[in-house]
Amino acid sequence: MKHQSRIQKSKEWVYRHSLNARICHWITVVSFVYLLLSGIMIFLQFPELYWGKVGFQGYPAVFRLSDWGLSWEEADALGNRRWGRSYHYLFAWIFISNGVIYLGWNLWQKKFYKKMLPSRDELRLSHLKADLGNHVRFRAAKGNAARHYNVLQKISYLMVLFLLFPFMLVSGLAQMPAFTAISPELIDLFGGRQTARTLHVVATVILVLFVLVHVIEVFVAGAVNQIRAMITGNYAIQAEDEK
Ligand code: HEM
Repeated sequence: MKHQSRIQKSKEWVYRHSLNARICHWITVVSFVYLLLSGIMIFLQFPELYWGKVGFQGYPAVFRLSDWGLSWEEADALGNRRWGRSYHYLFAWIFISNGVIYLGWNLWQKKFYKKMLPSRDELRLSHLKADLGNHVRFRAAKGNAARHYNVLQKISYLMVLFLLFPFMLVSGLAQMPAFTAISPELIDLFGGRQTARTLHVVATVILVLFVLVHVIEVFVAGAVNQIRAMITGNYAIQAEDEK
């Protein structure tokens, strides 16, 4: 009898994201979009970045938008500092409160550490290399591997949560006269308000790159399944069994 081999595809549903993670995720998305757009509106009306304590038009800058083809006047006409400031301050507090609720809720839960912390085995160079290879080749995880975040995912989420987001908060506070009036040490920590502002923008660029890669990964892994999981919590795992 001729031996026939076929791939049977079956679906299994797993509960991937808690209600708290889903609500906080979408609040982060909306606040991030507003913070980015309003930040760009503020930046356009002062399109140069400086290092240290001093910065004004004509002072040696570390970045000038005019070097990239948009003059000060053209950028100024595109920006809107008043609109930008209102929305930036509003969403900064929504963003921070949401982050505190998310971390407060998750940090005392064992499953958060299980979900987010890479194991010793995952941190082995060979494992990291294999994972990077899968990412570069846009190869999505299947079967058992799709049940958990992969190690690069874990590392990037941890860096965003515990490094970049807090940095946005601290470098943002260092630019707020109302805050630095009561805590001037924060400006000294950065070596000047201009440095805090420049680093706030650098961290913005890093976050935008993270979001771009994150969205590409969502599409590589299956956008419908990923977005549905972030709305309903349920994630479909495609099992491949040789029969
Ligand atoms: C991840 C979220 C955030 C992004 C993408 C972002 C982005 C930006 C950008 C691009 C600017 C323009 C820089 C300039 O030209 O001055 C800016 C300014 C600023 N940001 Fe943020 N920011 C974020 C979060 C925050 C947070 C959480 C705070 C509050 C603590 C904050 C406080 C400020 C302040 C005070 C300014 C200066 C506004 C002004 O000149 O009136 N930002 N932000």
